[in-house]
Order: sequence, then structure tokens, then C-alpha cells
Amino acid sequence: MNKSELTEAILKLKAEKRAVILAHYYTRGEVQAVADFVGDSLALAVQAQKTDADIIVFAGVRFMGETAKVLCPERKVLLPVPEADCSLAQSCSGEQLAAFKAEHPGAVVVSYVNTTAAVKAHTDVCCTSSNALQVVESIPADREIIFAPDQNLGAFIESRTGRRLIKWKGCCHVHDRVTAAQIEALKAAHPGVKVLVHPECRPEVVALADVAGSTAAILNACAGDDKEYIVVTENGILWEMRRRYPDKVFHAVELECDYMKMVTLENIYRTLKDESPEVEVPTEVADAARRSIERMISL
Ligand code: 13P
Ligand code: SF4
Repeated sequence: MNKSELTEAILKLKAEKRAVILAHYYTRGEVQAVADFVGDSLALAVQAQKTDADIIVFAGVRFMGETAKVLCPERKVLLPVPEADCSLAQSCSGEQLAAFKAEHPGAVVVSYVNTTAAVKAHTDVCCTSSNALQVVESIPADREIIFAPDQNLGAFIESRTGRRLIKWKGCCHVHDRVTAAQIEALKAAHPGVKVLVHPECRPEVVALADVAGSTAAILNACAGDDKEYIVVTENGILWEMRRRYPDKVFHAVELECDYMKMVTLENIYRTLKDESPEVEVPTEVADAARRSIERMISL
């Protein structure tokens, strides 16, 4: 089948099976186009919790599908590519976090949503890049905080809140490779143009930003009067940017998450048709992980 036949077949199956497709902004444009809802990590988690569909197809990486399953244990959650992982999620296992916690007794554990359900099960409160500052600010000033697993997001939170964090030393292999020299060169080529940066980038890159925030915050920042922007995050976001702001010009650093791009129309179609692969999370892990995600959503 070609792209438009696949799109049509997916939309038909979706209606027949009362399924919803949730997609992250980093997925391919054609994948975002068949989704019922496209969002950042926080919005996708909230949307998964709200849906009354029989089936959720998660067009994104594995931790996102797991988060949806943890929040909706009674629903069938399908993940087109279970091998689509995330370098942040890989950088810290549940056992490693438990051992790290034991070295810092009494510390509150805040974990980025880009983690396995096993890590979330050892976490007091989750956060995404949309609400990380708010989550950390909600913790009493006299409590120590462990922050896992993104050291760059951790440094961003420290710089904006003045709180010191005990940081796990993980990073996103996509955002971490951006250099300050690349941004300086783009700024020199496009003087006066605002720079929008995801806080998974290194501190010296975030320091050059006019706006540093989640994918949703970056998209919202383009709503202003400016006609051009320098975009420093995964390039899948350009699809939604150009859809929302067709007359604006975006200068982007070449950044692609190979995991996000593993999700295609072909594997979404096959997944919906076969109702497989399904996400499974052991009940005890899911119950413990759910508490940390729900604490985040309730803030
Ligand atoms: P947000 O959508 O929360 O900005 O997260 C970015 C990301 O890397 C997702 O994997
Ligand atoms: Fe993980 Fe980075 Fe890919 Fe996001 S962009 S899924 S943080 S590897």
C-alpha cells in the first residue's frame, strides 16, 4: 500500500475498533497526521488517562506506551515498535535507582517521565519538561532531592529554581550532541532571531536560548509576532510548527531521534490490524509507578 492507502486503512481500522492513536511531536509527519491527539509527554499522559477508547495505539517510544498502560491498566495499549527505546530510559534501571536512593536516605526522588515503569515505581513524583520546575518547587526547601535520569534537565531546574539536586548522570543522546558553537553559528547567520531550546540540551546551549522549554512550550513560543525562529530540538516538531504557522520560517539544527522515527504508517497499520504488540506492565510495578505519575498530574 502507498502512504495514502495506508492512511485510509488506518483510519478505517481505528473507527471499527474504537481505537485512538496518540502521537508525540517527534514522530514522522505522516504518523502525526493519522493521530487523534499529538502532544508533548505531559499532554499525552493526561490524554491517555482521559480516553474512553477500547484500544490506545501509542505512536512514540516504549516508556510512553508503558506510562499509558500504567495509567489505564484496563485498556489494551499497543506499541507499534516495542524496540523503540530512549537513551534516557536506558541510562537508569529500577535496581540502579534503588541503590542510589539507599546512598541518600530521606531524599525525595523526582524522575523524568522518560524512564521505565520500574524506575517510576521507585520514584516519589514524576515530572516532564513541561512541569519539572513546578514539581521541584512543590517540595519543601529543607528536603534533599534526587533527580533522575537527565543531568541536563536537572541542571536547567537548578538554574531556574536555585535548588540543588542530587543528579543521576544520564542524557538524551539526541539533544546532548548539540554544541554552543552550532547555536552561535545559527545566531550569526540569522541575527535577532529568537532561539528556542529543549532543556535536554547541555547547559551551555540552554544558556543561549531566548525560550527554554518542553516541545509544547517551544510550539507556543512561535505564536508571537516574530516571523522566524531558531529551533533546537528533535526535527519531528517542525511538522506541527509548519502546520500551525505556515507563513513562518524555522531554522533548525539537524536533530533526529532514531527511536521515534522507527514508528511508521506500516507498523501502525499492522499493530492495529493484529492488536499486537501489546504493552504489559506487572501489576505491582504498575501500582507503584502509577502513584508517582498521578502525584505529578495532580500538581
Ligand atoms: P517533551 O515532549 O515533554 O518536551 O519531551 C521531549 C522528549 O524527549 C520526549 O522523548
Ligand atoms: Fe529519548 Fe531523546 Fe529520543 Fe526523546 S529524543 S525519546 S529523550 S532519545
